[in-house]
Amino acid sequence: MPILVTGGTGYIGSHTCVELLNNNHSVVIVDNLVNSNKEVVDRIEEITGKRPIFYEVDATDGEKMEEIFAEHDFDGVIHFAGLKAVGESIEKPLAYYKNNLLSTMVLMENCLKYKVNRFVFSSSATVYGDNEVPFVETMDLLPTINPYGETKVICERILTDLAKVNPDISISLLRYFNPIGAHKSGIIGELPQGIPNNLMPYITQVAKGKREKLRIFGNDYATADGTGVRDYLHVVDLAEGHVVALHKATPGVQIYNLGTGKGTSVLELVHAFEEATGVEIPYEIAERRPGDLAECYADATKIKKELGWVASRTLVDMCRDAWRFERNLE
Ligand code: NAD
Ligand code: UFG
Repeated sequence: MPILVTGGTGYIGSHTCVELLNNNHSVVIVDNLVNSNKEVVDRIEEITGKRPIFYEVDATDGEKMEEIFAEHDFDGVIHFAGLKAVGESIEKPLAYYKNNLLSTMVLMENCLKYKVNRFVFSSSATVYGDNEVPFVETMDLLPTINPYGETKVICERILTDLAKVNPDISISLLRYFNPIGAHKSGIIGELPQGIPNNLMPYITQVAKGKREKLRIFGNDYATADGTGVRDYLHVVDLAEGHVVALHKATPGVQIYNLGTGKGTSVLELVHAFEEATGVEIPYEIAERRPGDLAECYADATKIKKELGWVASRTLVDMCRDAWRFERNLE
């Protein structure tokens, strides 16, 4: 029985499709290609030798989604589809609320109607707001300061309320920290449109000579070297985490952090990249970016204890794989 992967041609979705296919699941992708392209389906096939079924459909389109649910007997849904640019969400709140909430609601309506009992949701460490690090699943969620973060909090609430009255359904709320890196083949990875918002794609573009230098947003935070600290994890570890969460799903709501549990500063990541690749990254210190936290890293013990998952790939693996992917691009 196939797994429905919304957003399956995107960054995390494509890596997860590979892991699902490698674990002998068949995969149906729904993606409207707003932030990815169709060639990713070919790349997934190239890596795994198996081709997922692909629908270019908007996950908010109730009619089309119902046709897809009626056509396939899904065993589970992994819902990656969503808009994710924090800055853009402040400019276009309605687009973010509509896309991220409606897609989740349309999928859940169909899961309930077609008795699909396993649902995995892409949440984010952003739901912790500025709680004290390390972030633990039992913490109260604090207001996030942007509509993107709010969509994750609201979706978590909607899914939790649905689970209360639908005891057969299993909802996994996976709170990702900072996925970076790429598949070791170097043919799928993160493909930002325009100027990258995120650190690693910016670094690889500087390394490639596409951008002159990295701007480090602030070196006066209360961290060891003054630059922001994040919990970077390899995207393939993250993808594997989804397969584990799906396999070990039990009825009710399960909330897990997916991170390494270790914080790395911007400067440490820059130096790790330079060591892993031998390429120097010119940088300058710039103003703090509004809305950034000083530190964000996981307490990653719950998922290890309950599901046996740990993020095992190193920073060197992440840097080397991200660089291999960037170098393969035209
Ligand atoms: P991505 O943009 O690469 O992938 C998202 C995919 O969803 C894209 O292919 C896009 O075309 C598709 N999509 C968007 N809206 C859609 C819709 N209405 N219908 C169908 N397809 C649609 O992003 P990603 O980094 O792979 O993120 C996947 C999920 O993980 C997102 O929900 C994101 O919010 C969440 N997340 C990402 C990060 C991160 O750092 N990358 C961190 C925390 C959470
Ligand atoms: N940074 C720079 N220069 C850049 C880009 C980033 O110095 O050009 C710094 C940031 O200030 C921050 C760190 O690098 O200290 C990481 O920034 P990213 O933009 O890569 O990642 P964030 O932690 O800000 O955000 C990411 C996702 C969000 C998600 C959040 C928590 O982009 O969607 O992780 O999961 F909500």
